[in-house]
Amino acid sequence: MMADDTRPTLERVTVLANERVAEGVGLMVLHAPRCAAAVQPGEFVHLRVATGSDAILRRPFSVYHAHGERIELLYQVLGKGTLLMAEKIAGDEMDLVGPLGHGWHVPEGVTHALLVAGGLGAAPLAMLAEKMAQRGIAVTVALGTPTAERLFGREDFERIARQVVVATDDGSAGEHGFVTVAAERLLSEQRFDLVCTCGPEAMERAIARLASAHRVRCQVSLERLMACGIGACLSCIVSTRDGLKRACVDGPVFDAEEVVWDASQTPPKH
Ligand SMILES: Cc1cc2nc3c(=O)[nH]c(=O)nc-3n(C[C@H](O)[C@H](O)[C@H](O)COP(=O)(O)OP(=O)(O)OC[C@H]3O[C@@H](n4cnc5c(N)ncnc54)[C@H](O)[C@@H]3O)c2cc1C
Ligand code: FES
Repeated sequence: MMADDTRPTLERVTVLANERVAEGVGLMVLHAPRCAAAVQPGEFVHLRVATGSDAILRRPFSVYHAHGERIELLYQVLGKGTLLMAEKIAGDEMDLVGPLGHGWHVPEGVTHALLVAGGLGAAPLAMLAEKMAQRGIAVTVALGTPTAERLFGREDFERIARQVVVATDDGSAGEHGFVTVAAERLLSEQRFDLVCTCGPEAMERAIARLASAHRVRCQVSLERLMACGIGACLSCIVSTRDGLKRACVDGPVFDAEEVVWDASQTPPKH
């Protein structure tokens, strides 16, 4: 199917599979041909998980993979919306708006990239790793998670990356410690020309600082609370050197140098 150039679109989608892949983490496969044809790494969908008065607002999810007419979403069960998602079975229908936002921008000339994921931050980085490998870019991945039970996606990355380093907070898998420590070592030992990161904002900020210290360009995907997802409600404001921007339409991927981190820790009230 050809990509529709009038994006984003509202699409009725069908659940093909929905399974638990790690502690508190689900993988949902959706038949979503229009979105699958158009989505780029780092972009997201806005999913209506229920009809009626349950979870009225759509929930934003990065597209983990897109193949053929299918997209895959990885979701962490946190509250009402994701609890409802975990109950979906094959054949259930939902609707989504997408693809939304601006994803990763990989400039010409990049030869070795470091992707740093904290928890579900791995979701928007997986498609990026795939696209980079197709372009002949060597990819090193640092995956951080609290415990081995929360680890997922390792084999996926291992299929395409030159190297995958796992770090767990409790040492139950891979290296013992925060993924920032592993990333610092990788940046000291190897030469990278791009760092891309997604995870808790404090982690992203630390990675941005490390990349800057090693003089490597860095892009961050900021996962702000979002209501409309299309630039109208201003619930997803990010402070940048060029003023306030909206994560849903100007991001979620930003150049790390552009983000004013102090102000962005606590988004202004509207
Ligand atoms: C661009 C973007 C991409 C995202 N991609 C993914 C993804 O691939 N997988 C995934 O699991 N999650 C992703 N998220 C976060 C996801 O949207 C929220 O976890 C989800 O909306 C929570 O919905 P809920 O109804 O279960 O929880 P709620 O009941 O709404 O909230 C439960 C808890 O989650 C927190 N929360 C709610 N929304 C967010 C948010 N946007 N970011 C951080 N914390 C939040 C709340 O503060 C609360 O503590 C993404 C968010 C954005 C903005
Ligand atoms: S979510 Fe409404 S402006 Fe970004």
